[in-house]
Amino acid sequence: MEKHFKRTTVTSALPYANGPVHIGHLAGVYVPADIYVRYLRAKGEDVLFIGGSDEHGVPITIRAKKEGCTPQDVVDRYHKLIKDSFEEFGISFDVYSRTTSKVHEQTASDFFRKLYDKGEFIERTSEQYYDEEAGQFLADRYIVGECPHCHNLNAYGDQCEVCGTSLSPTELINPHSAISGSKPVMRETKHWYLPLDRHEGWLRKWILEEHKEWRPNVYGQCKSWLDLGLQPRAVSRDLDWGIPVPVEGAEGKVLYVWFDAPIGYISNTKELLPDSWERWWKDPETRLIHFIGKDNIVFHCIVFPAMLKAEGSYILPDNVPANEFLNLEGDKISTSRNWAVWLHEYLRDFPGKQDVLRYVLTANAPETKDNDFTWRDFQARNNNELVAVYGNFVNRALVLSNKYFDGKVPAPGALEDIDREVINELSTIRDRVERLLDAFKFRDAQKEAMTLARVGNKYLADTEPWKLAKTDMARVATILNISLQLVANLAIVFEPFLPFSTGKLKLMLNLADTGWSRLGGLDLLPVGHVLGEPELLFEKIDDDKINEQVSRLEEIKKANAEANYKANPVRENVAFDDFLKLDIRVGTVLECTKVPKADKLLQFKIDDGIATRTIVSGIAKHYAPEELVGKQVCFIANLPPRKLKGIESAGMILSAEDHDGTLSVITPMRQVKPGSEVK
Ligand code: MF3
Ligand code: ZN
Repeated sequence: MEKHFKRTTVTSALPYANGPVHIGHLAGVYVPADIYVRYLRAKGEDVLFIGGSDEHGVPITIRAKKEGCTPQDVVDRYHKLIKDSFEEFGISFDVYSRTTSKVHEQTASDFFRKLYDKGEFIERTSEQYYDEEAGQFLADRYIVGECPHCHNLNAYGDQCEVCGTSLSPTELINPHSAISGSKPVMRETKHWYLPLDRHEGWLRKWILEEHKEWRPNVYGQCKSWLDLGLQPRAVSRDLDWGIPVPVEGAEGKVLYVWFDAPIGYISNTKELLPDSWERWWKDPETRLIHFIGKDNIVFHCIVFPAMLKAEGSYILPDNVPANEFLNLEGDKISTSRNWAVWLHEYLRDFPGKQDVLRYVLTANAPETKDNDFTWRDFQARNNNELVAVYGNFVNRALVLSNKYFDGKVPAPGALEDIDREVINELSTIRDRVERLLDAFKFRDAQKEAMTLARVGNKYLADTEPWKLAKTDMARVATILNISLQLVANLAIVFEPFLPFSTGKLKLMLNLADTGWSRLGGLDLLPVGHVLGEPELLFEKIDDDKINEQVSRLEEIKKANAEANYKANPVRENVAFDDFLKLDIRVGTVLECTKVPKADKLLQFKIDDGIATRTIVSGIAKHYAPEELVGKQVCFIANLPPRKLKGIESAGMILSAEDHDGTLSVITPMRQVKPGSEVK
């Protein structure tokens, strides 16, 4: 059933201010959010678009340490860079603020305090590593030591990047502090936890029953979290960068970054509208929409709603249209490996071409699955769609009107069938596009807009008014009137997607009012209306420009491969006898399930040729369990058994690790008998 809303609050994930933004950010979050907001505004709806930088968290402190500056220096620099990039790409925030603002500090602090006073937290004491030399507790990432599984000497306190196993710092052998190098000691520390288990009941009902319309990827992730059972989550940290915990005796503790950041949406609204912000967050007739990437789903669908509910006076999100990831030329985008197209660099190389990137990113939007950005596709979509279809149609319609009617809109005469077909197409465009945009299907919506341009382009090609000019001016007038009306409609329908080109087009048409409600009309430009100067809407991008980008990426790839090899050189030779001691075998996976309360572990039951063997493996982030059932895997059969999360694991499944950390299970190229030896 359709609910009635008075206004819409749209938020887009607050990017971490510890690096510039790239095409993945734009495609995943900011372009779709901006399209949606521009669409609602064009319809005359009341909408607020909230953005800002996320400026707390451990990675920012690590970066500051590396660069020898303060965390504030880091976030100041990137906040400005990110804000400018968004502005340049026309991301039309009503406010773009930051989580180091005064308003935010106060808002997040008050929010915590209110939950604290209401008894919505539990307190727990645990032992954590403390660096006596540096005088501080150590975040998991700040502890380095030997992996208890593969004996990599540089495992982090939260994960061993060599064997992929998820760790807790207490499992490390010989742990030492990444700050001072000293041996940390265990110290008791108290933290506050949001008991998500208390919220499980209503969350299940609210998401699983009342929000079946959420995207399948979002709904599915929520369901699997809920099915595993929710646990209390710590909302404070021992850290010197963040918002102080506003409780007596909490010196040296700050709010966990994922507690304060989403409150940033509220703070930024407050900063913009100090007197009326509550209407955007507390009125049940306000619709709240969160645009995010898929790695943020649990925070926006489970944790933040639980915080809002615990507070008691807020509305909950109505939808959370999360996107999957955008890859670049077949590889995962990675900041640390410089595998990205940075927005500020794009603008340097393609000045004025914001809309081209917006167009391509929407055409390839990772709405239902991960998608790939390639420079060839970028070029093809520009040249074959924006230039050859949309731009060409607009240009012809305007140039011909100039030529035959002195730049004025001519009066139409009697209609022919071919005209009626075009008019028919136009009469349904608004309905089709609205339906798609309302369902957050931006990619399909933009396709409809381009189809309309295609219809126009074909109409001119089929009717060839330039050939009729000598014999039948009345016919030419009809064709050009219809074409110009189509062009004006394109200005309306493309506005949310391509705001810069639309601005240009409106000047060429001398058209001021492009309210969405006029979409589909044949009277957008009255007869006799004086048109503006025609210009090219888009221009061809030639091979040289694209080759430059491709070779830049090839060089980065080469440099990364070399660096990888250097960081991970082939180890010294081992005696052949030592190799023979390893017993590697093939087994067939009989069962594979997630290990409860361990987000990285899968439990296997394997037919090893004689018996069924249980092996636990840290690959849950890389495979869904059902993908592996029935497959053959290779495993080390003669490792001493070890306990993982209370399960005795008899062996180790072998995987190949990609440079980006992706694991791929090793399997024989042909089926073999379970128990076969690998030699
Ligand atoms: N900074 C987070 C990220 O980039 C997103 C924060 S969204 C917010 O993954 F809700 F916390 F603001
Ligand atoms: Zn390891």
